[in-house]
Amino acid sequence: MVEITETVLRDGHQSLIATRMRTRDMLPAAERLDAIGYRSLEVWGGATFDVALRFLREDPWERLRSLKKAMPRTPLQMLLRGQNLVGYRHYPDDVVRKFVAESARQGIDIFRVFDALNDPRNMEVALDAVRRAGARAQGTICYTQSPVHTLPAFVDLGRRLAELGADELCVKDMAGFLPPTEGAALVRALVKEVGLPVVVHTHSSSGMSTMTCLAVAEAGATAVDSALSPFSGGASQPPTETLVGAMQHTPLDPKLDLNALADLASYFATVLEKYRPLLNLRSLQTDPGILTHQVPGGMLSNLLSQLQEQDALGRLTEVLAEVPRVRADLGYPPLVTPTSQIVGIQAVLNVLTGGRYRQVTKEVRDYVRGLYGTPPAPIDPELKSKVLAFGEPAITGRPADLLPPEFEKMLGEVRALVPAADDAEALSYALFPVVYRSYRSAVDRGLTSDVLTSAALGVVGALRAPAPTPGVPAAEGGSSGGGSIWAHEGRARLQNQRRWIDASHHRSGR
Ligand code: CO
Repeated sequence: MVEITETVLRDGHQSLIATRMRTRDMLPAAERLDAIGYRSLEVWGGATFDVALRFLREDPWERLRSLKKAMPRTPLQMLLRGQNLVGYRHYPDDVVRKFVAESARQGIDIFRVFDALNDPRNMEVALDAVRRAGARAQGTICYTQSPVHTLPAFVDLGRRLAELGADELCVKDMAGFLPPTEGAALVRALVKEVGLPVVVHTHSSSGMSTMTCLAVAEAGATAVDSALSPFSGGASQPPTETLVGAMQHTPLDPKLDLNALADLASYFATVLEKYRPLLNLRSLQTDPGILTHQVPGGMLSNLLSQLQEQDALGRLTEVLAEVPRVRADLGYPPLVTPTSQIVGIQAVLNVLTGGRYRQVTKEVRDYVRGLYGTPPAPIDPELKSKVLAFGEPAITGRPADLLPPEFEKMLGEVRALVPAADDAEALSYALFPVVYRSYRSAVDRGLTSDVLTSAALGVVGALRAPAPTPGVPAAEGGSSGGGSIWAHEGRARLQNQRRWIDASHHRSGR
């Protein structure tokens, strides 16, 4: 038997409608979701925290509490970016511990902890905090392909995560290109060599995910992730009903009621209808491009918009050839937030400025200095000495060791704004000070989620619509193809705020 983790309340809507599903569209389904018998429901983390405060003007903690209350039986799960928590920079250990403890206290049962570089030192404090909170720790291996990402290397990482206290392992195929046979071999090796339950997370981007889920289930995976059909496919996970149907009456049978799933699917179809202006056709389409050029769909659409902004779309082929070279120079980081942005922006600069590394972004310099952690392979020595010739020296220790405790200071600051603020509110503020201030002032002005809903959807719809062409009413034009939104909201934010950071620009901190 293989178990199912349902992602409709987190990755499903993050991947297809930019994380915009509101709590009140989730709650009507809660009782039925809770009755299905899922292994767990992924409900929080990734971009949900940020987007709730920034765009929905919802308190993410309030969402967690109400989901927990409405779904007391099924374990609730969150995605945690290791030392980055649900944000985009390293936070000090005291904030990490406090955040994990508070999340567990308010309802998270399973924490999926990952790091963009697969650096265990960026996961160790979070994993320890999860254990102390009495929750289940899922140590995560970000799957990618490179000369150094071999089966033995993945198994070593699995062992290391077990030593750090992981209760189970997750293979996270964020780019959606884990082939079925390789996935099966990886799961078999992890189960045999590490001895922990293995969960597999895929995305349907290249079209392989249902095959991969079946293959890894046959190979002994404990669980796979899927999304109810309206929020499945393309940039999202494979459909829950399809997987359940495919494995029904076999030894793998997840034993979930297909009729009950169909009922939930029809509910979520009506929810999706509400958010239609946010749904981009491209994020639903199968995009096998990654199988040839190795650039994940979300990253490709970012590259396209960067090039478009520079009026340089004609250079795309050169940029696609440059991406793997930059990635190799940087020691083959998996391409996931934030490394996909770091590599992508530098590749564009290398092509457009007429010389490789003629301009080096602040992010690449920080990366080379070791501030994101240790890359999977050594950084190109020439690039390293070039970057380190100016500015500060490299570090060899754990990046977060450089960060002084912050929580008490943040608690003081938030209480100056909101005298009755509790730990949870202080954490929202500690993670996103600027966003939290604007959230607070919006709420104080009465601009709550309810008030904003229709207006926001209308504005997004208008922005997404293409310029009217003669004879074609704009309303029928569909979306203009901004690209799939499979990855984190942070990608878009980074693009908007700090797209062209020249070497002298100060980093505002993510
Ligand atoms: Co995902």
